[in-house]
Amino acid sequence: MPETSLKGKTALVTGASSGIGRATALKLAALGAHVFVTGRRQEALDELAPIAERAGGKITAEAFDIRDYDKFQGFIERAAEETGTFNILVNNAGLSHPDSIAKGDPEKWREMMEVNILSLLAGSQCAIHIMRKGGFEGHIVHISSVAARSDASGVYGGTKAMVSALATTMRKELEDDNIRVVNICPGAVITNFARNFPPDYINAVLQSLGIDLTFEPGMTLPPEIHDKVNEAAPALLLHADDIAKAVVYAVTQPINVDIFEMTVRPAKSLQLPDS
Ligand SMILES: NC(=O)c1ccc[n+]([C@@H]2O[C@H](COP(=O)([O-])OP(=O)(O)OC[C@H]3O[C@@H](n4cnc5c(N)ncnc54)[C@H](OP(=O)(O)O)[C@@H]3O)[C@@H](O)[C@H]2O)c1
Repeated sequence: MPETSLKGKTALVTGASSGIGRATALKLAALGAHVFVTGRRQEALDELAPIAERAGGKITAEAFDIRDYDKFQGFIERAAEETGTFNILVNNAGLSHPDSIAKGDPEKWREMMEVNILSLLAGSQCAIHIMRKGGFEGHIVHISSVAARSDASGVYGGTKAMVSALATTMRKELEDDNIRVVNICPGAVITNFARNFPPDYINAVLQSLGIDLTFEPGMTLPPEIHDKVNEAAPALLLHADDIAKAVVYAVTQPINVDIFEMTVRPAKSLQLPDS
């Protein structure tokens, strides 16, 4: 079996209806893992199983709001029960409302804290219990951000600073288990992450790259458009696959090898809108 095979492993990826989560789920499935995926948009999740099947992989999807922690933990339990093991949790679901603290809306702060931080904790806790009880070895991967170290990323940056801090604590807490913790800090990646950004800013970026499309608030774009943007500006915006490859690298190491943190960013910095 090749060193990177994930045959016989069970993985669960949150936020897999789009962007980094989608790319990661497809890569893990192509390597042989049975991948359970979640997000809110059922239609987008349903596209994944046939793609995985064509690559010889298996994907099981269920849509729900990840702030329903009972449902999220129930889905992790279902993955373990149906396959008899549980090895990889990718805590990827996340969002940004890029307003300054002075202009921000507390309800949007709450949403970011509940999705970016609390769901990651609820999922990790459940995975740890299942992996300990079953004696399953594997990885818990957090998708943090370079925003964790930025002074210009508002409350979103604060949530990612907490994700990175929690990864440090969790790594230490799990030292005596066969569970490695991986914290990945992406820079700018073309996904639907900018769905809450000011439309004027997004439209100016699309126009400067020659992409004929008018972005409206809350809009999600299909992966084909993301491919086009990445092709137009590879030095400014990574492809979601670039982050998926980092996840695969970390989770295919022997269990005694601790790939704790990776920063994966494009060669050049993208100017973000003033918030
Ligand atoms: N793109 C970047 O430049 C970048 C850089 C650094 C870090 N990140 C991090 O990467 C992760 C993935 O983001 P992305 O860039 O791939 O953005 P994306 O394309 O917008 O994907 C975000 C995913 O999270 C899911 N999600 C959001 N809120 C949810 C909720 N309440 N319940 C369930 N699922 C929810 C979305 O589901 P639906 O679409 O179905 O609602 C979607 O699948 C995030 O944690 C983000 O902070 C991104």
